[in-house]
Amino acid sequence: DWTPESFVDATVAELKEKLGDDEVILGLSGGVDSSVAAVLLHRAIGKNLYCIFVDNGLLRKNEFDSVLESYKGLGLNVKGVNSKDLFYTELEGKTDPEAKRKAIGKVFVDVFEMESKLVENAKWLGQGTIYPDVIESISVKGPSATIKSHHNVGGLPDYMKLKVVEPLNTLFKDEVRLVGKTLNIPDEILGRHPFPGPGLGIRILGDVTAEKVAILQEVDHIFIQGLKDHGLYDQVWQAGAMLLPVQSVGVMGDERTYEKVVALRAVSSLDGMTADWVHLPYEFLAEISNNIINRVKGVNRVVYDISSKPPATIEWE
Ligand code: XMP
Repeated sequence: DWTPESFVDATVAELKEKLGDDEVILGLSGGVDSSVAAVLLHRAIGKNLYCIFVDNGLLRKNEFDSVLESYKGLGLNVKGVNSKDLFYTELEGKTDPEAKRKAIGKVFVDVFEMESKLVENAKWLGQGTIYPDVIESISVKGPSATIKSHHNVGGLPDYMKLKVVEPLNTLFKDEVRLVGKTLNIPDEILGRHPFPGPGLGIRILGDVTAEKVAILQEVDHIFIQGLKDHGLYDQVWQAGAMLLPVQSVGVMGDERTYEKVVALRAVSSLDGMTADWVHLPYEFLAEISNNIINRVKGVNRVVYDISSKPPATIEWE
């Protein structure tokens, strides 16, 4: 019978056998899958696992530092790489969602490749691929792959000649969480909502700038912290805010304002393939809206997204 304990024991033994004294490189994202894969590999090969965590400048507020701390607390050998400016430069002037995804993916590969070269003897690339990712990448003609180019699977140039090790590729998400719990990974990491690889880059509609990222980070933080404070975070599958490319008229005191609009989105879902908007309490939405408009300079209107998937998608881009 499958238990997380038996899975951990068997997988650690297999990894030891397979990897011996080889060095492995792994890119951490802050998400559940790559974190569990890293801790599992670390159990098997210890310091021979080299983790890389890239700050693409599109993460949530304070996320880079707090996640890096959690990883260090888990004993991982992890290098945090601040590459914000490379991403912002590549994104400059790009407004098309797919062009933005490509730009972000390209810079990520460049940075990861550069960092990997520093681990001269590495033979393996560790990845947090889970079973549904494998299925989705086999059915490349499936709707999700053609509608939006998710880049969770593959993506590194072949000439890097690294063999791939994917210890979670037989597991479903709930099993990954159970394994993570057995490995004593904090709930703060295991219970995280899914977050897209291109991050806030696809939640800022239109072109991305550092200033817009700063605004959206504040908005998102008020919303997500509010969900946590009201005990709603774990009842929601995914939540976030979008910065819209429109301005709206408002009043403040005697002044007319003409400022940005943000949309909040919270969905319930099993796997992200279909989703429904969450009927968050009006009182909660009222409080969050007030806090955003009062505290975030440059935003004068908040709307709530009440669209289901399909036909809408979870992300707006
Ligand atoms: P959609 O917007 O297609 O999103 O309904 C379904 C799920 O996938 C996430 N998503 C992405 N994840 N790279 C990712 O790693 C991407 O480009 C990407 N686009 C969407 C989205 O956040 C949701 O969980």
